Amino acid sequence: MTKISSIEGRILYNSRGSKTIEIDVESEGKFLGRACAPSGASVGKYEAVCFPNGKPEESLRIIQENSQKFIGLESSDLKGIHDTLKSLDNSTNYSRIGGALAFAVTIASMESAAKAAKQPLFEILSPKSSFKFPFPLGNILGGGVHAGPGTPDIQEILICATGSKTIESAIETNLSVHKELRRVLEKEDPNFTNGRGDEGGWAPKLENQKALEVSAKACENLGFTLGKEVSLGVDFASSTQWNEEKQKYVYDRAGFENSAGEQIDFASNIIEKYKLIFAEDAVHEEAFEDMAEITAKFPNTMITGDDLIVTNKNILTKAIGLKSCNAVILKVNQAGSLYDALEFAKVANQNNIRLITSHRSGESIDSQISHIGIATKSKMLKVGVVGGERIAKLNELLRLSEHDLIRGMAEI
Ligand code: PGA
Ligand code: ZN
Repeated sequence: MTKISSIEGRILYNSRGSKTIEIDVESEGKFLGRACAPSGASVGKYEAVCFPNGKPEESLRIIQENSQKFIGLESSDLKGIHDTLKSLDNSTNYSRIGGALAFAVTIASMESAAKAAKQPLFEILSPKSSFKFPFPLGNILGGGVHAGPGTPDIQEILICATGSKTIESAIETNLSVHKELRRVLEKEDPNFTNGRGDEGGWAPKLENQKALEVSAKACENLGFTLGKEVSLGVDFASSTQWNEEKQKYVYDRAGFENSAGEQIDFASNIIEKYKLIFAEDAVHEEAFEDMAEITAKFPNTMITGDDLIVTNKNILTKAIGLKSCNAVILKVNQAGSLYDALEFAKVANQNNIRLITSHRSGESIDSQISHIGIATKSKMLKVGVVGGERIAKLNELLRLSEHDLIRGMAEI
């Protein structure tokens, strides 16, 4: 048991070059926990506000003015730290202090507690548990708001080495598909620049169906069968396409529009044709019943809510009642504090809703989410394939493979 002796913050930059906040929490004057907040580009309507009035400097000022309130708390007392944050912000979405601050303070505190206890972070977060590795799920081809004009409207095509028995082989397989896809894209278009989107997936000038075809081709070229050694996933991020006025999904780049019913067919055809293991936000963030229709159709695919659920346990409870999804994205900064996110994970696990712990498109080079994915018994860890800020999370999994507390891969 160690008490927080100092808490300090600073403004840094995330992988998109936007300002963010980093927090240092020190216990007993020597155990440093440090966390830097990420941020999203395709942000859900109901997720925690990143910074008050969009200004990281406001969050920094708030923590500087209130640091005394945290000093003397046990660094491992996640609930106590969360309650202290809530005493500064009684809004439902952290609009006063910023979800990024709640994220960074709670994760830095738990990291400090882990160092003091000489235990890995995942163990401190879930004591006396059995642990498995989540399958890395990585963006290999990107479009939508993560890439420029001419790229697919669909935000992400992802790879997951579902046949791998070890974390080493799962990571290596994802990397090999990402590399092979580059060769396929260069053949397809001699002018392909090797450009990549915000999360490290290739960003070619291709429409949606062609992008899916080349992704499948890269897997086949390596001798893999979709649904066996590897599986594809898609983050449709459909709220980006949804036009409230028209009540239609507008695919600007490909040049077509889908009614609500047509969108269900559009997504269903892709899930079927490419035997997707994972399909995220196939409809917009308020279409709980349309999601339920897709979930009923595809019990063997992780029909996943991201913008739909925004790591909010009350929204998840509603979705469970409506059978809107069988899997959910966990993004700590959508919830706000790590305490909020772990409470959310409890509800998901108690109801057999599969968890996928996820990065944001604007990331730091931190790797605590690898521990959070393990501690929450996530089936997958959505952290990209390449790019320094993505590799940092994968490399942490490799370091953790030296740990005999984690045995084998999650069951998906
Ligand atoms: P974001 O994208 O971090 O830009 O929100 C990731 C996602 O939609 O899953
Ligand atoms: Zn998403």
